[in-house]
Amino acid sequence: MHPMLNIAVRAARNAGKVILRASEDLSRVEAQQKGSNDFVTNVDKDAEAIIRETILKAYPEHSIVGEELGVTEGKDADYQWIIDPLDGTTNFIKGIPHYAVSIALKVKGRLDQAVIYDPVRSELFTASRGQGAQLNSMRLRVAKNNEIAGTVLATGFPFKQKHHIDAYTDAFKALFVHTADIRRAGSAALDMAYVAAGRIDGFFEIGLKPWDTAAGELLIKEAGGMITDFAGGTNYTKSGNIVCGSPKLCQQIVKEIRPTLTESLLK
Ligand code: IPD
Ligand code: CA
Ligand code: CA
Repeated sequence: MHPMLNIAVRAARNAGKVILRASEDLSRVEAQQKGSNDFVTNVDKDAEAIIRETILKAYPEHSIVGEELGVTEGKDADYQWIIDPLDGTTNFIKGIPHYAVSIALKVKGRLDQAVIYDPVRSELFTASRGQGAQLNSMRLRVAKNNEIAGTVLATGFPFKQKHHIDAYTDAFKALFVHTADIRRAGSAALDMAYVAAGRIDGFFEIGLKPWDTAAGELLIKEAGGMITDFAGGTNYTKSGNIVCGSPKLCQQIVKEIRPTLTESLLK
């Protein structure tokens, strides 16, 4: 295992312990609202703190971008870690056991290492650039679907940006009529890890953040899949509008949703 992936795994497991311990007594979890329907708990912050500590102990000069504790510019700007300490906070607060820790490393702006860790199921999804993607050391491949018919897709509702609801439901409808079914499980990181694992054929969501998708992007690409924006382009890192799955399925999804979307979402 690449030494930096090894550190990412250690950091994710440390965070997983913090999260699982806290999940045993949710009455002690303190939640604060940081935006519309957007909550942060002391557990998100504690998990991010232990991830940062683990990374910086090994690589004190690296830079970090974390969802809850912000940006730390290290001396070495070539190495940037992108952290979502708890993806699926709403599930966590409600006691729904479906959430994950997501950690990615970019080297000179390019995704290099990725970990998505589901502490509830002890599932560790990992990827290193050029080395493929694994689940608990088993090689992963995205599902090979050339068309939407018969697929099970995952999605996220725009619950933090409800002004997108009409555009979202139009896109949902255009896809749903063709699919076998669609899931909304509540963790974009796990949705993407499941695409890499072929458990879900494809995934789409509006307005995700870099920490939601960085690790998932490398996992999917290393598992033979693709990630695009809603127009089939690469602006998803900025817009957070994401379609992923096998390359052919992505093309088909874009073809269906494109006519339903306004210009502002087509990137
Ligand atoms: C959220 C989850 C959710 C997705 C949201 C994300 P958080 O992340 O991934 O599934 O629909 O867009 O913001 O806030 O729980 O880290
Ligand atoms: Ca997230
Ligand atoms: Ca989070």
